Amino acid sequence: MNAPTRINSALSVRGQFPAIVGWHYLDSAATAQKPQAVIDAITQAYSRDYATVHRGVYERSASMTASYEAAREAASNLIGGQPNELVFTRGATEAINLVARSLPKEGRNRVLLSQLEHHSNIVPWQLAGYEIDAVPLTPDGQIDLDAAEAMLTERHRVVAFAHVSNVLGSVLDARRAAEIAHSKGALLLLDGCQAVPRVPVDVAAIGAHFYAFSAHKLYGPTGIGCLWGRAELLQALPPWQGGGAMIEKVTFAETTFLDPPARFEAGTPHIVGAVGLHAAVNWVEKLSLDAIHAHECALVAETRAALSRMPGVTLYGPEDSAGIVSFNVDGVHPHDTATILDDAGVAVRAGHHCAQPLMRWLGVEATARASFAAHSDSSDIAALVRGIEQVKRIFSA
Ligand code: ALA
Repeated sequence: MNAPTRINSALSVRGQFPAIVGWHYLDSAATAQKPQAVIDAITQAYSRDYATVHRGVYERSASMTASYEAAREAASNLIGGQPNELVFTRGATEAINLVARSLPKEGRNRVLLSQLEHHSNIVPWQLAGYEIDAVPLTPDGQIDLDAAEAMLTERHRVVAFAHVSNVLGSVLDARRAAEIAHSKGALLLLDGCQAVPRVPVDVAAIGAHFYAFSAHKLYGPTGIGCLWGRAELLQALPPWQGGGAMIEKVTFAETTFLDPPARFEAGTPHIVGAVGLHAAVNWVEKLSLDAIHAHECALVAETRAALSRMPGVTLYGPEDSAGIVSFNVDGVHPHDTATILDDAGVAVRAGHHCAQPLMRWLGVEATARASFAAHSDSSDIAALVRGIEQVKRIFSA
């Protein structure tokens, strides 16, 4: 095996993250740390610019409304969509729930998912009364699209796949998934939580119908996410929550509703969350997702090379996974691995990663997971390797 390339903060952004000083944070797939630019935007919004949106006639409210709508434009541009196609939600989970609950079934009551889906792309479909078929994975942990093609029927209303697996980092061939969905008149929903922070996304080029992602995994704040949907599809969906700001006219006899996206944003929204998301989008675009992706791919290659040289360490997922490496140390529960790593100043996630069907598919109860971000570098990998050596020493003693 060739010597791995060492990544010495090729993006040079580590210093912009105040919360990781002296810490090896390898849990960005759970939630990303925030660059100072995002923290500053949020602080400024609360300390200088704050007011309600879409309700005030005073100048500050008009200005805050413009900021809120500018965030919508930035978030939609990031994934190749239009602002009127982007609904702000509490996160990707709520975005998928919105579609599952609101989409008319039109006589098709099945969804095609995959074995690697996050619970947030399984449970909403169950709650909405769909029957689920789950596509198997290839041996290296990709969604088997040949199998998907064979399994898809005209009884499936939706094909809903993770664009990037939160456990394995596998990157879906999203265009092929769209072609397969289109071939049977099904809609393609992509869970883009792990993709949007680490690979360039273009929903129009993919041919997707719906795309969901969260701000907090994209270096932005928690509590806000996005549902992108094709304009004609959103227009056909009924509202799923009622309240202020989504209505045209209310009487006690009946209510009429605004067009999307307002139709789906009942109540005062996460105003400052949108401002923080906008700052995060600007921050990511300045670096470029191509550069972030290349950086994280190199980190994954370095990590997989280092861990594969360690006897007794099992790696999961494909060689070319995006920013995420799941592993286990033989005979050691991943919670113990993560606890010893924590003592060594390395934060990884351990558990089922909200993907219990995938754990069953892998034949394990849980894994440890290292996940990278733009600020990660070779020092994080070296600390991870030292920590795993310590795990092995402790458990062989
Ligand atoms: N989906 C997030 C993760 O994988 C929470 O950690």
